[in-house]
Formats: sequence, C-alpha cells, structure tokens
Amino acid sequence: MRFQGKSLFLVVAAVLLVAAVATAGDVPMADNAYIGSEACFDCHDAADLGMQADVHMQIQSFEVQGREVGCEGCHGPGKLHMEESDPELIRTFAEGADYSESVCMDCHATKNLPEWDASIHALEAVACTDCHGVHGKRNKPNEACTACHADSRAAFELPSHHPLREGKMNCSSCHNPHSATDFMLKTRMRKADLCYTCHQDKEGPFIFEHPPVQEDCSLCHTPHGSVANNLLTANEPTLCLQCHDFHFHAGYRASDSLELEIGGIERENPFGPEAYQIAYTTNCTQCHARIHGSDTPSQTTTGWGEGLTQ
Ligand code: HEC
Ligand code: HEC
Ligand code: HEC
Ligand code: HEC
Ligand code: HEC
Ligand code: HEC
Ligand code: HEC
Ligand code: HEC
Ligand code: HEC
Ligand code: HEC
Repeated sequence: MRFQGKSLFLVVAAVLLVAAVATAGDVPMADNAYIGSEACFDCHDAADLGMQADVHMQIQSFEVQGREVGCEGCHGPGKLHMEESDPELIRTFAEGADYSESVCMDCHATKNLPEWDASIHALEAVACTDCHGVHGKRNKPNEACTACHADSRAAFELPSHHPLREGKMNCSSCHNPHSATDFMLKTRMRKADLCYTCHQDKEGPFIFEHPPVQEDCSLCHTPHGSVANNLLTANEPTLCLQCHDFHFHAGYRASDSLELEIGGIERENPFGPEAYQIAYTTNCTQCHARIHGSDTPSQTTTGWGEGLTQ
C-alpha cells in the first residue's frame, strides 16, 4: 500500500512537472530569471523597438496582479538569453508559435476578451498578432481584416456601400473580432438591433409594420456593398416581387387616348396604352414610399399620381 501511494505521488508529480514545462513551453524556465527591461536595452536599441509610447511599457505590476511587466511580460524571462545572446532562449513570437495567444491571454482573458475562446477567429487559429502589431507596427483599422477578408473589403467598392472607404466607419463599427456572436456582430440580440444603433428612424414603432423589416433587414439589404441602389439585394420591382404579386391591373392595357377624364377632370395620359405597366412595374416605392413601416395604410402617390410622370 505504502509503495503504491508513493508511486502515485511520483506519477502526479511527473504529470505536474510536464504540465509546468508545457505551459512555459518555449522559454526554458530552469535557471532562468527576470532581468528587467533596462537590461534589454544594453543590446537592443530602444528607439528601434518603438515601444516608448506603448501602453504595455507603462503598466505597473500591481495592475496585472503581480505578473511580470515590461519587455519580459511578453517575452518571458531573459537571463539565459542575455548570458548566451541566443535568440533560441527567448520568446520571439515567430510565425506559427502556438504560445502567442496564451501569453497575451494571460493578462487579457478576463478583462477584455471573455468570449475569445468561443469566437470563430480563435477556432480558426487566428492569432492576436495577426491583427495587433506590437513594436510600433500598428495596423490601421480595416487593414488587419482585409489581409484575410479581401472579398468583404471588395464589396465596399460597389456603387452602393457603407461609407468605409470614405473613412466614416470601419469593420469594427459593426463587428467585434473577439466575440462569439453570430457573424461576430456587435449585438447580442437580433441583427436589426445593430442597424438601429445608427438608423433609429427605421425602428418605429409603426402602426402598419412591414413584416420583413421587423424580421431581418438583410431580407432586402446587404451590409457591405451592392450593385443595386440603397444597399438592396436586388433593384425594384424584382426585390418586391420575390414576395408580392404584381398588382392585378399591372398587366392590363390602358386607353389609347392621350387624354382621359377622371372624376370629371380632363387629365393627361402621356404613356397611352403602356400607362399601367409604366406606373406599376418600375419603382413600387414611388407609391409605397414608407417601405419600413408607416402610420398610414399602403399609401398612394399624392396629386393624382402626377409624381409618377416625373
Ligand atoms: C547581451 C545582449 C542581449 C541582451 C541583454 C538581450 N538580448 Fe535579445 N538578443 C541578443 C542577440 C545577440 C540576439 C540575436 C540578434 C539577431 O538575431 O538579430 C537577440 C535576439 C532577441 C530576440 C529575437 C529577435 C529575432 O528577430 O528573432 C528577442 C525577442 C530578444 N532578443 C528579446 C530580448 C529581451 C526581451 C531582452 C531583455 C529581457 C533581451 N533580448 C536582452 C542580445 C541580447
Ligand atoms: C505586448 C507584448 C510585447 C512587449 C511588451 C514587448 N514585445 Fe517584443 N515582440 C512582441 C511580439 C508579438 C513580437 C513579434 C513581432 C511583432 O509582432 O511585432 C516581438 C518582437 C520582438 C523582437 C524581434 C523583432 C523586432 O522587432 O526586432 C525583439 C528584439 C523584441 N520584441 C524585443 C523586445 C524588447 C526589448 C521589449 C521591451 C522594450 C519588448 N520586446 C516588449 C511582443 C512584445
Ligand atoms: C503583463 C500583462 C499583459 C500582457 C502579457 C499583454 N498585455 Fe496587452 N495590455 C495590458 C494592459 C494592462 C493594457 C492596458 C489596459 C487595457 O486596455 O486593458 C493592455 C492593452 C492592450 C491593447 C489595447 C491598448 C493599446 O492601445 O494598444 C492591446 C491591443 C493589447 N494590449 C494587446 C496585447 C497583445 C496582442 C498581447 C500579446 C502579444 C498583449 N497585449 C500582452 C496587459 C498585458
Ligand atoms: C481578427 C483580428 C483581431 C484578432 C485576432 C484579435 N484582435 Fe484584439 N482588436 C481587434 C480590433 C479591430 C480592435 C479594436 C476594436 C474596436 O475598436 O472596437 C481590437 C481591440 C483589442 C483590445 C482593446 C480594446 C478592448 O477590447 O478593450 C485588446 C486589449 C485586444 N484587442 C487584445 C487582443 C488579444 C489579447 C487577442 C488574442 C487573444 C486579440 N486582441 C485578437 C482585432 C483583433
Ligand atoms: C489571419 C486571417 C484573419 C484575419 C486577419 C481576420 N480574419 Fe476574420 N476570419 C478568418 C477566418 C479563417 C474565418 C472563418 C472562415 C470564414 O468565415 O472566412 C473568419 C471569419 C470572420 C467572420 C465571419 C464569422 C461567421 O460567423 O461566419 C467575420 C465577421 C470576420 N472574420 C471579421 C473579421 C474582422 C472584422 C477582421 C479585422 C478586425 C478579421 N476578421 C480579421 C480569418 C481572419
Ligand atoms: C454596416 C455594418 C458592417 C460593416 C461596416 C462591416 N460588416 Fe461585415 N457583416 C455585417 C453583417 C450584418 C453581416 C452578416 C451578413 C449576413 O447576414 O449574411 C456581415 C458579415 C460578414 C462576414 C461573413 C459573411 C460574409 O459576407 O462573408 C465577414 C467575413 C465580414 N462581414 C467581414 C467584414 C469586414 C472585413 C469588414 C470591413 C472591411 C466588414 N465586415 C464591415 C455588417 C458589417
Ligand atoms: C456604425 C453606424 C452604422 C451601422 C451599425 C449601420 N449603418 Fe447603415 N449607414 C451608416 C452610414 C454612416 C450610412 C451613410 C449615410 C449617408 O451617406 O448619408 C449608412 C447608409 C445605409 C444605407 C443607404 C446606402 C446608400 O446607398 O445610400 C442603407 C440601406 C443602410 N445603411 C442599411 C444598414 C443596415 C441594414 C444595417 C445593419 C446591418 C446598417 N445599415 C448598420 C451607418 C451605419
Ligand atoms: C422589404 C424590403 C426592406 C427591408 C426588409 C428593409 N429595407 Fe431598408 N430600404 C428598402 C428600400 C426599397 C429602400 C429604398 C429607398 C426607399 O424607397 O425608402 C430602403 C432604404 C433604406 C435606407 C436608405 C434610405 C433611407 O430611408 O434612409 C436605409 C438606411 C435602410 N433602408 C435601412 C433599413 C434597416 C435598418 C432595415 C432593418 C430594420 C431595413 N432597411 C429593412 C427596403 C427594405
Ligand atoms: C421577404 C418578403 C417581402 C419582401 C421582399 C417585400 N415584402 Fe411587402 N410584405 C411582406 C409581408 C409578409 C407583408 C404582410 C402580409 C401582407 O399584407 O401581404 C407585406 C406587406 C406589404 C404591404 C402592405 C400591404 C397592406 O395590406 O397594407 C405593402 C404595400 C408591401 N408589402 C409592399 C412591398 C414593397 C413595395 C416591397 C419592395 C420594396 C416589398 N413589399 C417587399 C413581405 C415582403
Ligand atoms: C401607382 C401607384 C402604385 C404602384 C407603383 C404600386 N402600388 Fe401597390 N398599391 C397601390 C395602391 C393604391 C394600393 C391599394 C392601397 C389600399 O388598398 O390601401 C396598393 C396595394 C398594394 C399591396 C397591398 C395588397 C393588395 O393587393 O391590396 C401590395 C402588397 C402592393 N400594393 C405591392 C406593390 C408592389 C410589389 C409594387 C411594385 C411591383 C407596387 N405595389 C406598386 C399603388 C401602387
């Protein structure tokens, strides 16, 4: 019994030791020690490293619960590296290193990034340093994203687009690249709630709601860019005809006469027999102007339809 207990202890100790080494991973921990940021500058040029203004060099250890701060907060202990001047003995964040995330997350997990592990980016093994340049190599907004999402960026070049290339917004106006929400959108609720943050007038409440608007803006709109006007997925009337039938008289021939008497008043009929087609099969919103909802039922145009001829 005694013997078994002892070997169990050894096994546990060995597992713990392996775990400890595995956590440290890259940097040798045995006989290593922290030497402080000043020591690094003996051999590395402070200005070249572009860290003077970096927030990480201003952190005090009490702010991060006693974790190491300064250069070694990210690069790990530097004593062995200093003694040997060997780049193998320090964390370099070389491409493909699997520790980069855990190093950053050691400080950032709870405070900034509680959902990171469940995000698509984490699941797809996108690293912090794919988007965040340290050492003065700050990425401009959007640039980090477009390296991998060229197609999304390209959509903003289409004729109708959210004003991203005009500099009025960027990818993170709508996306939080650390979050676990649908499409990493900055909303926990419906997709439309994101849109309402900037387009409040579309939220209503309206007496006559248009059901697809309540359901999902993307039934009619595409968020990045579109060849159709107003970021629509298709131009009118095609858009509307995906769900609605033509007005029953849209297929009828109208009178050949260029003048018509309606309600006792002589009126022009400039399009003659094509009048119905021209009136009803161009822009449905000429008449149904409040497409996102209104307080009056399906409106007609004012002024006896004169708006249609303009
Ligand atoms: C005694 C001189 C010396 C000191 C002190 C020193 N280094 Fe180095 N370091 C070197 C040399 C030499 C290299 C290899 C240079 C090269 O490959 O361009 C190097 C390389 C590195 C690299 C890898 C660079 C690369 O491109 O792969 C990192 C990261 C690094 N040092 C960080 C540190 C940090 C952090 C400190 C302080 C904790 C530090 N060094 C202190 C001499 C030193
Ligand atoms: C916030 C974490 C962080 C801090 C703090 C930090 N580094 Fe780095 N360092 C990195 C990362 C990540 C890389 C990999 C290249 C990159 O992404 O810019 C790197 C790369 C390097 C390199 C090699 C590439 C180069 O630009 O020459 C050296 C040398 C280096 N760091 C030294 C230092 C020294 C010295 C300090 C303190 C003044 C320091 N680092 C502070 C994260 C950090
Ligand atoms: C020793 C703890 C620590 C480590 C390790 C660390 N950070 Fe930070 N970082 C902080 C603190 C503290 C702040 C400032 C307060 C804040 O925004 O949370 C900060 C701020 C930031 C910011 C936003 C502020 C800015 O203007 O730059 C980014 C981005 C960031 N860190 C990325 C990283 C990345 C990427 C890594 C890994 C290469 C990393 N951090 C490693 C503690 C740390
Ligand atoms: C896909 C690109 C991307 C990746 C990967 C990424 N970030 Fe970010 N991060 C951003 C962008 C963009 C912002 C600015 C967000 C904003 O302005 O709303 C940001 C902001 C931050 C901030 C400061 C703002 C805040 O949320 O408090 C910190 C800290 C940060 N990131 C740390 C990290 C760490 C640590 C990792 C790795 C675990 C990481 N990021 C991975 C793109 C990324
Ligand atoms: C290193 C490459 C890389 C970078 C940089 C990157 N992403 Fe991604 N992103 C991916 C991969 C891989 C996926 C998952 C596959 C896909 O949907 O394309 C993804 C998925 C997404 C998705 C879709 C999520 C879903 O639910 O389908 C969004 C939104 C996104 N990224 C936004 C961003 C934003 C915003 C940035 C810049 C802050 C960014 N990405 C930077 C690689 C990257
Ligand atoms: C106006 C808000 C908005 C902006 C700005 C925005 N997005 Fe999106 N993005 C969305 C919405 C909403 C979706 C979900 C689309 C859907 O329902 O299919 C989405 C979906 C995505 C997707 C996944 C689906 C796809 O189209 O491949 C990626 C990747 C993406 N966005 C990347 C980006 C990048 C990169 C940028 C910056 C260049 C950006 N987005 C800017 C709102 C936005
Ligand atoms: C961060 C703010 C913001 C968010 C979030 C946002 N938009 Fe926009 N949207 C704008 C701005 C700014 C414009 C340009 C207005 C202008 O040019 O007058 C715009 C324009 C539009 C246009 C008109 C485009 C054109 O060609 O004139 C449509 C349609 C639109 N947004 C729909 C949406 C939808 C749908 C969503 C949700 C997926 C959304 N927006 C989310 C800010 C936002
Ligand atoms: C049934 C299709 C449909 C749905 C669903 C829809 N829209 Fe629209 N939207 C349109 C049409 C058509 C236009 C063209 C301009 C017009 O006639 O009002 C438009 C124009 C816009 C415009 C630009 C012109 C303006 O009125 O400011 C914005 C912004 C907009 N929509 C936002 C939204 C938002 C936000 C949602 C979701 C809450 C949404 N739309 C849902 C059809 C739709
Ligand atoms: C995704 C499907 C869908 C699209 C696209 C769509 N609608 Fe609708 N629309 C509906 C539904 C569902 C109703 C409510 C049921 C009904 O009254 O037929 C409705 C109701 C209406 C009404 C009100 C009917 C009444 O009795 O007051 C009008 C007018 C209307 N839509 C016009 C349009 C126009 C114009 C477009 C194109 C800009 C359009 N719709 C696009 C689904 C859609
Ligand atoms: C010339 C003006 C005009 C045009 C253009 C127009 N409509 Fe209408 N629409 C009306 C009038 C008037 C009504 C009846 C309003 C009422 O009964 O309250 C109506 C009613 C509707 C209704 C309610 C259901 C019904 O049949 O009673 C729907 C849905 C509708 N229109 C869809 C469309 C679509 C889709 C288009 C484009 C293909 C379109 N409309 C073009 C004037 C127009």
